[in-house]
Amino acid sequence: MHTLNVDLGSRSYPILIGAGLLGRAGSFDQLAARNVLAVSNSTVAPLYMAQLRSSLAPRRVVEVILPDGEAHKTLGNMARVLDVLVANRFARDCAVLALGGGVVGDLAGFAAACYQRGVDFVQVPTTLLAQVDSAVGGKTGVNHVGGKNLIGAFHQPQLVVADTATLQSLPARELRAGLAEVIKYALICDAPLMAWLEQHLGALLGRDPAALAHVILRSCQIKADVVGRDEREQGERALLNLGHTFGHAVEAATGYREWLHGEAVGAGLAMAATMSCECRLLEASDAERVRRLVELAGLPTQVPGVTPQDMLSHMRIDKKVLGGRLRLVLLRRLGAAFVTADYAPEALMRTLAQHCGAGAP
Ligand code: NAD
Ligand code: GLY
Repeated sequence: MHTLNVDLGSRSYPILIGAGLLGRAGSFDQLAARNVLAVSNSTVAPLYMAQLRSSLAPRRVVEVILPDGEAHKTLGNMARVLDVLVANRFARDCAVLALGGGVVGDLAGFAAACYQRGVDFVQVPTTLLAQVDSAVGGKTGVNHVGGKNLIGAFHQPQLVVADTATLQSLPARELRAGLAEVIKYALICDAPLMAWLEQHLGALLGRDPAALAHVILRSCQIKADVVGRDEREQGERALLNLGHTFGHAVEAATGYREWLHGEAVGAGLAMAATMSCECRLLEASDAERVRRLVELAGLPTQVPGVTPQDMLSHMRIDKKVLGGRLRLVLLRRLGAAFVTADYAPEALMRTLAQHCGAGAP
């Protein structure tokens, strides 16, 4: 088992990474609560809830099983979780535990943030995306019809238990989606990781346990360091949104139905690299390297059904708009990202034209 720490003073917590940890979740000191509300979904619960429940004994465990999918990451379902907490008379010393991917984790975490103004929260992520990204850092929330993740709170977990063995049952498309976030970390601050990914993508796609453990550990290390320095995204944490402003626009423009979040981020990373090249920051050969890596991971780099104008209108309602200016995360070079609102609008239009709508294959 590998242990990392997210260093946030009195709100610090460990991330435990290893195969088989699900069956030991109840043995970790940070899960002190005697009453646990376990939130999962209709796909993950049949696979892993029994194992989790027996590890939590003799605690009282009440379950909420949500329908599966991003469409269910709603205020209505979050209220359902709160209703169960109230109906079962859970007190302030309870814990909410999320067993599942980022959807379950974000929603359950938001319920934990709101119930009695905040109760303990434990993340047991079961997708690659959640193990490398969403389970760490305390961003919780739900979607609104007006936009993704528009309602939420920062609420750090007490513990993250990433059982890498759960990734063996993950659909291949979901595994690829998680790789987008790993590529993101490499582009932001770890050029050697990019070279490692170029060599080991086959092993990752083949679910080699050592390769998976390597990228989960490195990704969590990077995220834990960034969150430890900038918990509330006042500065550096915004770098973790590389590719996301483009990606969120793809998801919104396609009604959150066709694209997985990680797939949209993959295309967004390719767009961020193109944009960096259009702004004369990145060499064309490096932008091409990014595009090839995203494609090698089995992720799309083109968005054929969406026009550049559609993209632009969705990007304008992104949370990264400040004072009317859309900020983008761009690359000075591979492994060095920065945030800027200082770019030519024509460069953005040229970028969108290369990846979206009629210009896309
Ligand atoms: P997800 O939660 O929808 O899970 C993907 C699919 O895999 C689902 O169908 C799920 O039921 C299934 N699944 C999960 N674990 C499985 C397993 N071990 N075996 C078989 N099937 C399994 O999607 P995701 O990609 O994990 O998360 C996406 C969400 O995360 C989005 O809502 C996004 O906004 C959010 N997110 C949040 C943060 C954050 O910092 N809070 C960061 C990135 C993404
Ligand atoms: N996924 C971006 C963040 O956690 O800040």
